[in-house]
Order: sequence, then C-alpha cells, then structure tokens
Amino acid sequence: MSGPLRIALAKGRLYQPAVARFAAAGIVIDPEPGRRLLIPSSDPAIEFLVVKPADVAVYVESGAADLGVTGTDVLRESEADVLEPLDLGFGACRLVVASPAAQPFPALPGGKTARVATKYPNLAWQHFARGGRPVEIIAVHGSVEVAPLLGLAHWIVDLVDTGNTLRANGLTERETILTVGAVLVANRASQKLKLEQHLRLMSRLG
Ligand code: PRP
Repeated sequence: MSGPLRIALAKGRLYQPAVARFAAAGIVIDPEPGRRLLIPSSDPAIEFLVVKPADVAVYVESGAADLGVTGTDVLRESEADVLEPLDLGFGACRLVVASPAAQPFPALPGGKTARVATKYPNLAWQHFARGGRPVEIIAVHGSVEVAPLLGLAHWIVDLVDTGNTLRANGLTERETILTVGAVLVANRASQKLKLEQHLRLMSRLG
C-alpha cells in the first residue's frame, strides 16, 4: 500500500453531499472524469473511485481502497471489518419496517407468517429474530415499496428519508430498526501504514 490515498465513493444519494464535503475540505474531484474509473482530485495525494453503495465496504475491507464514504445501512448489512473514524453528518435517514396503512400490524389476519421484502435481508432478519417473530424474508434490489401493493410481501424493510415514497404507496412506518447516516470508513492496514495521510485527511474533514 503506497501512493495516493484512494477513496471509494458510493453512487446515488450520498454522492453529491460527499463530493461537496471533500470540496469544502479543499479536495476537489475532477468534475469530468470521462470513462476513467480512478478519478484524480485537486490534491495529487488523493484519488477517488465511484462504486455501487454496497461495494464501498468491499473495496475498503480488501484494501483496494484506503477509505470510503458509505451509509451505515449498507455497512451494517455487509458486516465488513473496517474502521469508522468519522461520522460525516449527512445522509441522515432511517431503516424501518413499513406496511399498508389499512392493514393491522403486527398481527396478520389468520395468524399468517409475514413475508418481508427488503434490500437488507440480514438486518431485517436480525430485527425480527431479536423480537422472536418468524418472518419470511424476500430479498429484492429496489422498488421495494411496490411489493405489498402487488402481493409479493406483506411488509417491507427499507430506508425512509422524507417519507414521501411510503406515503405515495399507501404504506405506514411501523418500527425503526436503525438510524442511518454517512460515515468515513478506513482499511485497517492502510490506517497503520499511511497513518500520517489518514490523520491529515481526518483533520481536513473533521
Ligand atoms: C431510497 C429508499 C426509498 C426512498 C426513501 O431509495 O429505498 O425508496 O429512498 O426516500 P423518501 O422517504 O424521501 O421518499 P433510493 O432513492 O436511494 O433508491 P433505490 O430504491 O434505488 O435504492
């Protein structure tokens, strides 16, 4: 592990706030990277890569990236072994159980076992197991809110920010599983080997 600090950013809702946060720290990401996957910044000692949200922790845990910006939702779902040196203070939302507003909760008619659609099968499973409630988890990759409308699932476990998506699909928030936010994560070996660079970055972002 030598050379520039390589930082993995998640595509999607955390991308723009992350870019703004680095820019405020004087680290400006090349706004026109073209097809390059490793993106230089105004600081020659720092470069970026942009990956799917669930992959940030994979890159950082393996050491392919020194650091990453990720949400605690996908981080806890992955159980990746990474350091979390900094809470970045943006991307606040929550992971919740939601179900159709008109449907009784948590007991389903006839004592049926609930089917739960989610992008977070591990966190959902743990939540219901903690409560001793048997459920069937249905793992999907997006548009989770439509699952109860179509009869794919009775409940969902998904992120809520404004609540607009739940409301628009006739769903009500029932239980909070996790408070979510963006964090900086770091590879364990990298933090030891590049300690000075990590500390300098932390003080610029902190
Ligand atoms: C997230 C989440 C909800 C929505 C909640 O999806 O899965 O669908 O945002 O936001 P709201 O409470 O403000 O309506 P995202 O936009 O990240 O896209 P995705 O479904 O592709 O993950």
